[in-house]
Amino acid sequence: MRTVTTIADVRALARRWRQAGERIVFVPTMGNLHAGHVSLIEAARAHGERFVASIFVNPMQFGPNEDFAHYPRTPERDEQMLRAAGCDLMFMPDVAEMYPNGSQRATRVEVPGLSGILCGEFRPGHFAGVTTVVAKLLHIVEPDAAVFGEKDYQQLTLIRRMVRELCMPIEIIAAPTVRDADGLAMSSRNQYLTPEERARAPAIHRTLQAAALRLRAGECDYPGIERTGIEALERAGLQPDYFAVRRAEDLGAAQPDTRHLVVLTAARLGKARLIDNLQVSR
Ligand code: PAF
Repeated sequence: MRTVTTIADVRALARRWRQAGERIVFVPTMGNLHAGHVSLIEAARAHGERFVASIFVNPMQFGPNEDFAHYPRTPERDEQMLRAAGCDLMFMPDVAEMYPNGSQRATRVEVPGLSGILCGEFRPGHFAGVTTVVAKLLHIVEPDAAVFGEKDYQQLTLIRRMVRELCMPIEIIAAPTVRDADGLAMSSRNQYLTPEERARAPAIHRTLQAAALRLRAGECDYPGIERTGIEALERAGLQPDYFAVRRAEDLGAAQPDTRHLVVLTAARLGKARLIDNLQVSR
């Protein structure tokens, strides 16, 4: 595996692979890799011959009071994990390489509407930061396909729409959420939890499962299911930002005859803000 820090080096290598007719699959990350990220690389395997991962903690997607400065950074360990997972290229730019004029005044890519709901309501500017950096990374790597985790369901939905609307010839692959044995979705932010908070965190998955069960049974009282979800999370000692039943395709309002649904939640627990979701088809 090669590790590079400049856009020029990524382009030179990727060009060589493309000229050799090799399909490139890209996995963008913010580093501090865990089994969930390794599963993204594994999902990439079925879609090409060359695998590129980026490690970049993107300042544009963090709010002023969020954890940009403290976000865990473990580059040596990340490099070992990517090498072991069979990655060909790790791109680890610094902020100046990605934002030569600073991230505050940089050109932005924003998906209106979708970026302002659910997590977007509680993290203003977050999704514009995500779509901007992902658009830049996709322009740099020019992959045939890119892999994103279903754990960040709203992010995945936004990226699919951005890629479609900006006519990027890139296949977006969704990889299933990887969970600990007790159901908690893997996330770098789980490290912020104290042992006592960690023991309470699986309530998120349990509450989503309870909602999914009701939906599978044909219930259409979505506001009722949402209220029950909020109450259950509060009883478990979490502070939910939202618990929502939406249309899986575009996160629009679910109707009684909507067949593909997604239940999404975000909840605060100590220093962590945790998100998770479950899809339901009926
Ligand atoms: O999901 C993430 O880790 C980030 O939002 C991403 C897609 C790497 C963009 O910074």
